[in-house]
Amino acid sequence: MGAKQSERILMVCLGNICRSPMAEGIAKSLAEKNGLDWYIDSAGTGAYHVGQSPDARSIVEAAKHGIDITDLRARQFTPEDFDNFDRIYAMDEENYNMITLLSHTPEQRAKVTMILNEVNPGSNLSVPDPYWDDNGFGYVFDLLSEAIEHIVQQAVRQKSE
Ligand code: 4NP
Repeated sequence: MGAKQSERILMVCLGNICRSPMAEGIAKSLAEKNGLDWYIDSAGTGAYHVGQSPDARSIVEAAKHGIDITDLRARQFTPEDFDNFDRIYAMDEENYNMITLLSHTPEQRAKVTMILNEVNPGSNLSVPDPYWDDNGFGYVFDLLSEAIEHIVQQAVRQKSE
């Protein structure tokens, strides 16, 4: 028996309406397909869109891939999330800096990773903010799918070790 099966994973962006709800939907879908018992949620470092549905463009992009994110609602990241989650994935460097600023211990800080580092370790690449770019949503979906597929396959391998 390798790593524990049940993990709590939080996806974080700025508004929790564009990137992180897509990441949440993709992760839930891939975890289910691969038999992983994961609890997955998302949040924003900002409070601008709290209570709102995902951006319509994220909903449409996810739906194109058979993923329904219409029921998600935006919430703000809180320091309690460090206790409630095992891993916290930041979409970009600004999110990463904001989350780690709220951490109090090295253990909390160690839970935070820039999500694209799963594909290119140490690259510190950001998932671009598609909010001001109607054409950016497909690209963001693809970037997130690749990163989350990596995360899921890593867990599948560890499970069978
Ligand atoms: P997200 O995108 O962080 O991927 O949810 C944004 C949503 C809203 C804003 C910026 C980015 N905004 O400035 O309101």
